[in-house]
Amino acid sequence: MYKTLLTDLTDNILTVTIHRPDKLNALNKDVIAELGEVVTEIYDNKEIRSAIITGSGGRAFVAGADISEFQGLTREEGQALSAKGSDIFFRIASSPKPIAAAINGFALGGGCELAMACHFRLCVATAKFGQPEVNLGLIPGYGGTQRLTQLIGKGRALEIMLTGRMVEATEAHVMGLVNYIVTEQDELLSKTRELLSIINDKAPLAVARIIECANIAAGDGIAYSETGDWEADPFGGDAPTSHAPTSHARGRHKSGSDNPTAPGSPGSVNGFLREQAAFGECFGTEDMQEGAAAFLEKRKPHFKGK
Ligand code: COA
Repeated sequence: MYKTLLTDLTDNILTVTIHRPDKLNALNKDVIAELGEVVTEIYDNKEIRSAIITGSGGRAFVAGADISEFQGLTREEGQALSAKGSDIFFRIASSPKPIAAAINGFALGGGCELAMACHFRLCVATAKFGQPEVNLGLIPGYGGTQRLTQLIGKGRALEIMLTGRMVEATEAHVMGLVNYIVTEQDELLSKTRELLSIINDKAPLAVARIIECANIAAGDGIAYSETGDWEADPFGGDAPTSHAPTSHARGRHKSGSDNPTAPGSPGSVNGFLREQAAFGECFGTEDMQEGAAAFLEKRKPHFKGK
């Protein structure tokens, strides 16, 4: 039971609604802590195949970190706040189960960063994006300088972060910041569910490995492969793998300079080599055999996550 989040698990899709509508769902300490808990739930609950993060009310997805908690923070406390939020956002990006952001309004500051940590983004036509921290004498602190640059390129990212301006949904779509725009609020969750349902029908172990390899390409998430922290099967099967399960795969990771594969240490993992190994791992799964057999037998495959 959460204080600041509403959750609903239907058809193996967990919908997480950040619920502080009177404060435009700003990320205060409680929301951040509970987001950490719900990410662990997404990793651990085998009933959950994918998840949606959205905001409560018709105005905002998330209007940023809660500015009222900023006053009086020391330099060390500011850094610790950034590290805590970033850690949770890394766990979102690294989730072996797809997580989609359904952006129902303002996605500003930490809200834009939360959306970018998700694997893809859908929004309503009235949504507005931005990294307005510079207006407060601040910079994005939950991975925004990195993920915005990855997603839309350095020139456009710098312009948005340095001016602090808002970006309309249509411009965000053209830039590649969002995957789909829906015209009506009430279409947002159904369109997002539709997209996740397509992925939920695929082989979970292949889905997880595609996310992992794409994260390596983007310099994002947690590099399971080199730390050996890849869970054999986050869905309850027993796919053979050379990597032993550890707490990493449950959504925890070492961050900082002690971790040679920490996010942001480019070149530490060769994505092409990891892809080759992951491709091989898929051949050791029942699901890959089932997928190939179903194609040859001209029938729909039935994947089990094994
Ligand atoms: N932190 C804390 N409270 C916030 C907030 C944030 N990031 N964003 C909005 N709120 C609160 C407002 O203080 C207000 O609370 P109140 O009713 O108790 O005064 C409430 O949410 C509604 O916001 P309000 O500013 O009155 O709505 P608006 O329609 O006039 O403006 C925004 C909407 C999004 C343009 C404006 O709220 C805003 O600029 N928010 C901050 C965005 C930001 O800088 N985010 C990055 C933070 S690092």
